[in-house]
Amino acid sequence: MIKDLSPVRIAIFASGKGSNAREIIHFFQNGRHRVDGRKIEIALIVCNKAGAGVLNVAEESGIPWMLLEKEKFYNGTQYLEELSKRDISFIVLAGFLWKIPPGLIAAFPDRILNIHPALLPAFGGKGMYGNAVHEAVIASGAKQSGITIHYVDEQYDHGRIFFQASVHLSPEETPESLAEKIHTLEHQHFPAQIFRWVECKLSLNP
Ligand code: GAR
Repeated sequence: MIKDLSPVRIAIFASGKGSNAREIIHFFQNGRHRVDGRKIEIALIVCNKAGAGVLNVAEESGIPWMLLEKEKFYNGTQYLEELSKRDISFIVLAGFLWKIPPGLIAAFPDRILNIHPALLPAFGGKGMYGNAVHEAVIASGAKQSGITIHYVDEQYDHGRIFFQASVHLSPEETPESLAEKIHTLEHQHFPAQIFRWVECKLSLNP
């Protein structure tokens, strides 16, 4: 049997600053992390916001990017064809705030992972992103917050949890200081957890 040595290609969907996308790109750069001899490649950045910082990250890293149009994202199959043409087999959401349409979830079953800047199931749902999350956590009097990496289903911030890590809040915590702590935690864990996920999926279903 001929061994499959084709690269495993991941698309990152992101529409913010792109600090997580940058960390993920660096982690997998130059074929540093492989599964069964296959290189893992960040092959595409998908973004819904013209001018978003993540597009600079894509440019600096020489990674192709694509801007989404809402109408086409939710109606029709053009984006699915684009992902298939580029041989994408995994999708990672790193600061992507649109709901993922059912057609995309069906085309990538258990192959879409999201990161959320709090300990789900608390502090998730529509409108819960960025400082809104950290403000809600502080207002609740919680003593800790953290990050959740989870599978994507048809509801916001809802799918099965893959990984969580937590951090303590200090008595004088502000949304800004908490955002910084959470970003550090995300950068520390997200790339390695993506690697673990891809390894685990490919070993079950090469
Ligand atoms: C991250 O903190 C991520 O957890 C959050 O967006 C930020 C993107 O930052 N995602 C959500 O809030 C999803 N509900 P980045 O652009 O610097 O990577």
